[in-house]
Amino acid sequence: MPPSSASHPNGSADVAEVVIVESADAAGELAADAIEHLVRSRPDAVLGLATGSTPLTTWRALAGRGLDLSRVRGFALDEYVGLPAGHPESYRSVITREVVEPLGLTPERVRVPGDDGPIETAGERYERAIDDAGGVDLQVLGIGRTGHIGFNEPGSSFASLTRVKTLTQQTRIDNARFFDSVEDVPMHCITQGLGTILGARHLVLLAFGEAKAAAVVGAVEGAVTSSLPGSAIQLHRQVTVIVDEAAASGLAHADYYRYAWANRLEWERL
Ligand code: GLP
Repeated sequence: MPPSSASHPNGSADVAEVVIVESADAAGELAADAIEHLVRSRPDAVLGLATGSTPLTTWRALAGRGLDLSRVRGFALDEYVGLPAGHPESYRSVITREVVEPLGLTPERVRVPGDDGPIETAGERYERAIDDAGGVDLQVLGIGRTGHIGFNEPGSSFASLTRVKTLTQQTRIDNARFFDSVEDVPMHCITQGLGTILGARHLVLLAFGEAKAAAVVGAVEGAVTSSLPGSAIQLHRQVTVIVDEAAASGLAHADYYRYAWANRLEWERL
Protein backbone atom coordinates (compact mmCIF):
# COMPACT_ATOMS: atom_id res chain seq x y z
CA MET A 1 0.00 0.00 0.00
CA PRO A 2 1.38 3.45 -0.84
CA PRO A 3 2.56 5.35 2.20
CA SER A 4 0.72 8.22 3.78
CA SER A 5 1.41 11.54 2.11
CA ALA A 6 0.67 13.42 5.30
CA SER A 7 4.22 14.71 5.39
CA HIS A 8 3.94 16.40 2.00
CA PRO A 9 4.84 20.07 2.21
CA ASN A 10 1.41 21.27 1.18
CA GLY A 11 -0.11 19.12 3.86
CA SER A 12 -2.74 17.55 1.63
CA ALA A 13 -3.20 13.99 0.52
CA ASP A 14 -4.05 12.62 -2.91
CA VAL A 15 -1.97 15.03 -4.91
CA ALA A 16 -1.39 13.93 -8.50
CA GLU A 17 -0.08 16.48 -10.88
CA VAL A 18 0.96 16.56 -14.51
CA VAL A 19 3.02 19.62 -15.35
CA ILE A 20 3.79 20.41 -18.98
CA VAL A 21 6.79 22.66 -19.43
CA GLU A 22 8.55 24.16 -22.43
CA SER A 23 11.90 22.46 -21.97
CA ALA A 24 13.91 19.86 -20.12
CA ASP A 25 15.72 22.70 -18.38
CA ALA A 26 12.46 24.11 -17.04
CA ALA A 27 11.51 20.62 -15.84
CA GLY A 28 14.84 20.28 -14.09
CA GLU A 29 14.24 23.56 -12.24
CA LEU A 30 10.83 22.38 -11.04
CA ALA A 31 12.13 19.01 -9.88
CA ALA A 32 15.02 20.78 -8.16
CA ASP A 33 12.48 23.04 -6.40
CA ALA A 34 10.79 19.98 -4.91
CA ILE A 35 14.11 18.48 -3.80
CA GLU A 36 15.34 21.78 -2.40
CA HIS A 37 12.17 22.24 -0.38
CA LEU A 38 12.51 18.73 1.03
CA VAL A 39 16.20 19.06 1.94
CA ARG A 40 15.71 22.47 3.55
CA SER A 41 13.18 20.92 5.91
CA ARG A 42 15.12 17.68 6.34
CA PRO A 43 18.87 17.89 5.61
CA ASP A 44 19.27 14.10 5.82
CA ALA A 45 16.36 13.39 3.48
CA VAL A 46 16.39 10.13 1.53
CA LEU A 47 16.43 10.57 -2.24
CA GLY A 48 15.73 7.89 -4.81
CA LEU A 49 18.19 8.45 -7.63
CA ALA A 50 17.51 7.67 -11.27
CA THR A 51 20.16 7.40 -13.95
CA GLY A 52 19.73 7.93 -17.68
CA SER A 53 19.74 11.22 -19.56
CA THR A 54 16.36 12.41 -18.29
CA PRO A 55 17.30 13.52 -14.75
CA LEU A 56 20.44 15.38 -15.85
CA THR A 57 18.76 18.78 -15.96
CA THR A 58 17.44 18.17 -12.44
CA TRP A 59 20.92 17.42 -11.10
CA ARG A 60 22.30 20.46 -12.93
CA ALA A 61 19.60 22.75 -11.55
CA LEU A 62 20.11 21.39 -8.06
CA ALA A 63 23.87 21.85 -8.25
CA GLY A 64 23.23 25.51 -8.99
CA ARG A 65 21.27 26.05 -5.78
CA GLY A 66 24.30 26.05 -3.49
CA LEU A 67 22.63 23.70 -1.01
CA ASP A 68 24.51 21.60 1.51
CA LEU A 69 23.56 18.07 0.45
CA SER A 70 26.29 16.29 2.40
CA ARG A 71 23.83 14.68 4.81
CA VAL A 72 21.36 13.54 2.15
CA ARG A 73 21.08 9.78 1.78
CA GLY A 74 20.59 8.24 -1.65
CA PHE A 75 19.38 4.96 -3.10
CA ALA A 76 19.88 4.31 -6.79
CA LEU A 77 17.00 2.72 -8.63
CA ASP A 78 18.94 0.10 -10.49
CA GLU A 79 22.25 -1.28 -11.71
CA TYR A 80 23.56 -3.55 -14.44
CA VAL A 81 24.65 -7.02 -13.42
CA GLY A 82 27.91 -8.35 -14.83
CA LEU A 83 29.90 -5.19 -15.57
CA PRO A 84 33.40 -5.11 -14.10
CA ALA A 85 33.74 -2.94 -10.98
CA GLY A 86 34.47 0.65 -11.95
CA HIS A 87 33.10 0.28 -15.50
CA PRO A 88 32.28 3.85 -16.58
CA GLU A 89 28.73 2.89 -17.59
CA SER A 90 27.89 1.01 -14.42
CA TYR A 91 25.20 2.98 -12.65
CA ARG A 92 27.51 3.27 -9.63
CA SER A 93 29.97 5.15 -11.85
CA VAL A 94 27.19 7.19 -13.44
CA ILE A 95 25.70 8.15 -10.07
CA THR A 96 29.17 9.10 -8.77
CA ARG A 97 29.94 11.20 -11.86
CA GLU A 98 26.57 12.83 -12.39
CA VAL A 99 25.07 13.07 -8.94
CA VAL A 100 27.42 12.48 -6.00
CA GLU A 101 30.33 14.62 -7.18
CA PRO A 102 28.52 17.60 -8.72
CA LEU A 103 25.99 17.81 -5.87
CA GLY A 104 28.44 17.23 -3.05
CA LEU A 105 26.72 14.14 -1.67
CA THR A 106 28.70 11.97 0.73
CA PRO A 107 29.68 8.80 -1.21
CA GLU A 108 29.17 6.50 1.80
CA ARG A 109 25.58 7.73 2.08
CA VAL A 110 24.68 6.64 -1.44
CA ARG A 111 23.79 3.04 -2.15
CA VAL A 112 23.41 1.22 -5.45
CA PRO A 113 21.68 -2.18 -5.53
CA GLY A 114 24.14 -5.07 -5.58
CA ASP A 115 26.99 -2.99 -4.15
CA ASP A 116 27.42 -5.03 -0.99
CA GLY A 117 28.06 -8.68 -1.69
CA PRO A 118 26.43 -11.66 -3.40
CA ILE A 119 23.97 -10.62 -6.08
CA GLU A 120 21.60 -13.49 -5.26
CA THR A 121 20.65 -11.92 -1.94
CA ALA A 122 21.38 -8.29 -2.77
CA GLY A 123 17.70 -7.46 -3.26
CA GLU A 124 16.75 -8.38 0.30
CA ARG A 125 19.67 -6.42 1.70
CA TYR A 126 18.74 -3.38 -0.36
CA GLU A 127 15.14 -3.47 0.81
CA ARG A 128 16.36 -3.69 4.41
CA ALA A 129 18.70 -0.75 3.91
CA ILE A 130 15.86 1.37 2.49
CA ASP A 131 13.65 0.41 5.44
CA ASP A 132 16.44 1.15 7.91
CA ALA A 133 16.81 4.61 6.36
CA GLY A 134 13.10 5.21 7.03
CA GLY A 135 12.03 4.85 3.39
CA VAL A 136 12.60 7.08 0.38
CA ASP A 137 11.23 10.62 0.71
CA LEU A 138 11.39 11.59 -2.94
CA GLN A 139 12.02 9.24 -5.83
CA VAL A 140 13.16 10.72 -9.14
CA LEU A 141 12.08 8.60 -12.10
CA GLY A 142 12.63 8.53 -15.83
CA ILE A 143 10.67 6.20 -18.09
CA GLY A 144 11.92 3.92 -20.82
CA ARG A 145 10.30 3.51 -24.20
CA THR A 146 8.94 0.13 -23.13
CA GLY A 147 7.20 1.97 -20.28
CA HIS A 148 9.69 0.67 -17.75
CA ILE A 149 10.59 2.53 -14.59
CA GLY A 150 13.86 1.58 -12.96
CA PHE A 151 14.53 -1.59 -14.93
CA ASN A 152 11.07 -3.05 -14.29
CA GLU A 153 10.28 -4.34 -17.74
CA PRO A 154 6.76 -5.25 -18.93
CA GLY A 155 5.27 -8.00 -16.81
CA SER A 156 6.80 -6.77 -13.56
CA SER A 157 4.56 -7.31 -10.56
CA PHE A 158 3.25 -4.17 -8.90
CA ALA A 159 4.25 -5.79 -5.61
CA SER A 160 7.81 -6.55 -6.75
CA LEU A 161 10.78 -5.65 -4.59
CA THR A 162 14.44 -5.21 -5.48
CA ARG A 163 15.56 -8.19 -7.56
CA VAL A 164 17.56 -9.35 -10.54
CA LYS A 165 15.80 -9.07 -13.90
CA THR A 166 16.51 -9.75 -17.57
CA LEU A 167 16.49 -6.68 -19.81
CA THR A 168 14.34 -6.60 -22.93
CA GLN A 169 16.19 -6.40 -26.21
CA GLN A 170 14.53 -2.99 -26.78
CA THR A 171 16.06 -1.63 -23.60
CA ARG A 172 19.46 -3.06 -24.51
CA ILE A 173 19.19 -1.39 -27.94
CA ASP A 174 18.11 1.91 -26.34
CA ASN A 175 21.03 1.78 -23.90
CA ALA A 176 23.60 0.67 -26.50
CA ARG A 177 24.42 4.36 -27.06
CA PHE A 178 26.39 4.24 -23.82
CA PHE A 179 28.40 1.20 -24.93
CA ASP A 180 30.42 0.21 -28.01
CA SER A 181 27.67 -2.11 -29.25
CA VAL A 182 24.40 -3.67 -28.15
CA GLU A 183 26.25 -6.91 -27.35
CA ASP A 184 28.19 -5.00 -24.70
CA VAL A 185 25.00 -3.99 -22.86
CA PRO A 186 24.51 -6.43 -20.00
CA MET A 187 21.56 -8.79 -20.29
CA HIS A 188 20.79 -8.65 -16.58
CA CYS A 189 20.18 -5.94 -14.06
CA ILE A 190 19.14 -5.49 -10.46
CA THR A 191 16.34 -3.03 -9.90
CA GLN A 192 14.12 -1.69 -7.19
CA GLY A 193 10.74 -3.30 -7.75
CA LEU A 194 7.51 -1.50 -8.53
CA GLY A 195 6.50 -2.19 -4.94
CA THR A 196 9.72 -0.59 -3.74
CA ILE A 197 9.12 2.48 -5.90
CA LEU A 198 5.51 2.77 -4.76
CA GLY A 199 6.82 2.79 -1.18
CA ALA A 200 8.55 6.15 -1.70
CA ARG A 201 6.62 9.09 -0.26
CA HIS A 202 6.73 11.28 -3.38
CA LEU A 203 7.36 10.21 -6.98
CA VAL A 204 8.67 12.73 -9.50
CA LEU A 205 8.58 11.26 -13.00
CA LEU A 206 10.24 13.17 -15.81
CA ALA A 207 10.05 12.53 -19.55
CA PHE A 208 11.19 14.50 -22.56
CA GLY A 209 10.87 14.14 -26.31
CA GLU A 210 8.57 12.49 -28.82
CA ALA A 211 10.10 9.05 -28.24
CA LYS A 212 8.61 9.03 -24.73
CA ALA A 213 5.10 10.20 -25.71
CA ALA A 214 3.55 6.72 -25.90
CA ALA A 215 5.09 5.61 -22.61
CA VAL A 216 3.85 8.80 -20.93
CA VAL A 217 0.29 8.28 -22.18
CA GLY A 218 0.40 4.70 -20.96
CA ALA A 219 1.77 5.65 -17.57
CA VAL A 220 -0.51 8.62 -16.91
CA GLU A 221 -3.75 7.86 -18.73
CA GLY A 222 -3.60 4.22 -19.78
CA ALA A 223 -4.87 1.11 -18.09
CA VAL A 224 -3.06 0.17 -14.91
CA THR A 225 -1.25 -2.88 -16.16
CA SER A 226 2.01 -4.67 -15.58
CA SER A 227 2.40 -4.61 -19.37
CA LEU A 228 3.26 -0.94 -18.92
CA PRO A 229 5.10 -0.82 -15.59
CA GLY A 230 5.07 2.99 -15.45
CA SER A 231 1.27 2.85 -15.06
CA ALA A 232 1.96 1.77 -11.47
CA ILE A 233 2.31 5.48 -10.66
CA GLN A 234 -1.48 5.78 -10.90
CA LEU A 235 -1.67 3.77 -7.67
CA HIS A 236 0.43 6.28 -5.75
CA ARG A 237 -1.02 9.24 -3.86
CA GLN A 238 1.76 11.68 -4.41
CA VAL A 239 3.02 11.78 -7.97
CA THR A 240 4.35 14.66 -9.98
CA VAL A 241 4.83 14.05 -13.70
CA ILE A 242 6.91 16.74 -15.41
CA VAL A 243 7.04 16.51 -19.19
CA ASP A 244 7.94 18.69 -22.13
CA GLU A 245 5.48 19.40 -24.96
CA ALA A 246 6.79 16.56 -27.12
CA ALA A 247 6.49 13.96 -24.39
CA ALA A 248 3.03 15.34 -23.54
CA SER A 249 1.86 15.27 -27.16
CA GLY A 250 -0.31 12.15 -26.78
CA LEU A 251 -2.03 13.11 -23.53
CA ALA A 252 -5.81 13.34 -23.92
CA HIS A 253 -6.20 15.67 -20.96
CA ALA A 254 -3.23 17.93 -21.65
CA ASP A 255 -5.43 21.04 -21.71
CA TYR A 256 -6.77 20.24 -18.26
CA TYR A 257 -3.27 19.68 -16.88
CA ARG A 258 -2.14 23.03 -18.26
CA TYR A 259 -5.24 24.75 -16.88
CA ALA A 260 -4.85 23.15 -13.45
CA TRP A 261 -1.19 24.12 -13.26
CA ALA A 262 -1.84 27.68 -14.46
CA ASN A 263 -4.55 28.05 -11.82
CA ARG A 264 -2.79 26.29 -8.97
CA LEU A 265 -3.39 27.75 -5.57
CA GLU A 266 -0.75 29.99 -4.16
CA TRP A 267 0.18 27.51 -1.42
CA GLU A 268 0.36 24.50 -3.73
CA ARG A 269 3.81 23.18 -4.42
CA LEU A 270 5.21 20.11 -6.08
C1 GLP B 1 17.22 3.14 -18.27
C2 GLP B 1 17.14 3.26 -16.77
C3 GLP B 1 15.87 3.92 -16.33
C4 GLP B 1 15.66 5.16 -17.15
C5 GLP B 1 15.45 4.81 -18.58
C6 GLP B 1 15.25 6.02 -19.47
O1 GLP B 1 16.81 1.92 -18.77
N1 GLP B 1 17.30 2.03 -16.09
O2 GLP B 1 15.93 4.20 -14.94
O3 GLP B 1 14.55 5.87 -16.66
O4 GLP B 1 16.58 4.11 -19.05
O5 GLP B 1 16.49 6.54 -19.82
P1 GLP B 1 16.72 7.97 -20.40
O6 GLP B 1 16.41 8.91 -19.28
O7 GLP B 1 18.17 8.03 -20.77
O8 GLP B 1 15.81 8.12 -21.53
